[in-house]
Amino acid sequence: MTKICCIGAGYVGGPTMAMIAKKCPQVQVTVVDINEARIAAWQTDDLPIYEPGLLDVVKEARGRNLFFSTDVDQGIKDADIVFVSVNTPTKTFGEGAGCASDLQYWELCARRIKEVSTSDKIIVEKSTLPVRTAEAMERVLHAGDNPVHFEVLSNPEFLAEGTAIEDLECPDRVLIGGHQTESGQKALQALVDIYATWIPRERILTTNVWSSELSKLTANAFLAQRVSSINAISALCESTEADVADVAHAIGTDSRIGSKFLKASIGFGGSCFKKDILNLVYLCETYGLTEPANYWRSVVTMNEYQEARFVTTMLHSMFNTIANKRIAVLGFAFKADTGDTRESPAIKVCRKLASEHASIVVSDPKAMDNAKLEMPELADDIEFQEDVYKACDGAHAVAVLTDWKQYKDLDFQRIYDSMQKPAFIFDGRNMLDHDALYKMGFEVYSIGKGRKTHLK
Ligand code: NAI
Repeated sequence: MTKICCIGAGYVGGPTMAMIAKKCPQVQVTVVDINEARIAAWQTDDLPIYEPGLLDVVKEARGRNLFFSTDVDQGIKDADIVFVSVNTPTKTFGEGAGCASDLQYWELCARRIKEVSTSDKIIVEKSTLPVRTAEAMERVLHAGDNPVHFEVLSNPEFLAEGTAIEDLECPDRVLIGGHQTESGQKALQALVDIYATWIPRERILTTNVWSSELSKLTANAFLAQRVSSINAISALCESTEADVADVAHAIGTDSRIGSKFLKASIGFGGSCFKKDILNLVYLCETYGLTEPANYWRSVVTMNEYQEARFVTTMLHSMFNTIANKRIAVLGFAFKADTGDTRESPAIKVCRKLASEHASIVVSDPKAMDNAKLEMPELADDIEFQEDVYKACDGAHAVAVLTDWKQYKDLDFQRIYDSMQKPAFIFDGRNMLDHDALYKMGFEVYSIGKGRKTHLK
């Protein structure tokens, strides 16, 4: 029986390993983490992360061939294949602060693997890492006269939070990078065989380690770039009476462009896009590639502009003052179908609203606990209200910041009736029926579309 250990029981490690365990009953999968609360939660039906369909997958395999443990050393020791799926946040100190990846958690894992291993192992980079990280890891793993052989593969994860289970069950592709040596190719084949249990072979792409590492950063940079590109156009639409949805549709029908990821919004969030682009920027700078670095940095600059512009629009439309005005923020997660609030645009919006002394009330169906932790400095000033109608009661304005489907079906007449007048609504996701809202009496503002206002 092949034994897999995954270090890191987070948004990637948990769902990825649950899917492997479900699809490969012949493989024993143990997910280990130093975070005891997280491991304890994985053992209950109240999982530490919200992801549609995840609980069913976990329940099918848990206790059969899927295990969660805080015994990191034992997990590593027993395994033939060790996935490393720990966090690789942006460095906040020293050289490269604000841009480079903080690799301390990853390197700690490498040292632990080297320390406790008594048999040869395949080490799989699941975390998103700067290109050529595997080289440094191999040096750490093979330092000294350890007789154990480690073969490092790169297998970046392309799942998107909110659709992780679909993405894992039926991925566009799985990417595996290995060294062009005999042992490298043997290790690569072992991992291919696991994925090939449920993924068509032609969707499993194999390449060298460096291309694989760089492909993940590149994929995220391209996705984020599309969001920033359409958001840049949304600003121009607002000045010219063009409609960004029409423009997106018109260009998206061009098969060279494609229709996905062309939705104008308040901006992208999540733990990956910004971090991975900045990492790419840092890599370019390290190799003296100033223009490529500046090009990719502008994607992040554009995103920050879009977040700031949203609040500026709120302020200007509400007569240049929002001090003491109640503003209901609907949605705090960085996107729908997740409770994850990391780098959510809602954080920047709330901070900016607070700097204008607005009275903020936050509502979200899944992200309230995380939302409370995101802004400790404002925790006492912000009201958290799960009930949307209570959140909107007496509000001067409603700002929709996450595209939760249920927000489409709210009783907006009831909301309008309970609000201060004029009642403003700012749709940061372009997801509501703006004509209907306008007819009810709302002052309607969205992204990249003409405003609908009754005010002269
Ligand atoms: P996360 O923060 O949810 O999980 C990481 C886990 O690793 C934490 O539970 C932490 O306690 C654990 N950990 C850290 N150091 C450890 C150590 N020395 N020993 C044992 N456990 C340790 O992070 P997430 O979101 O799962 O991301 C992991 C990696 O996957 C990152 O590199 C990220 O860029 C990448 N990624 C994330 C995606 C996402 O949607 N969240 C998608 C694709 C890639």
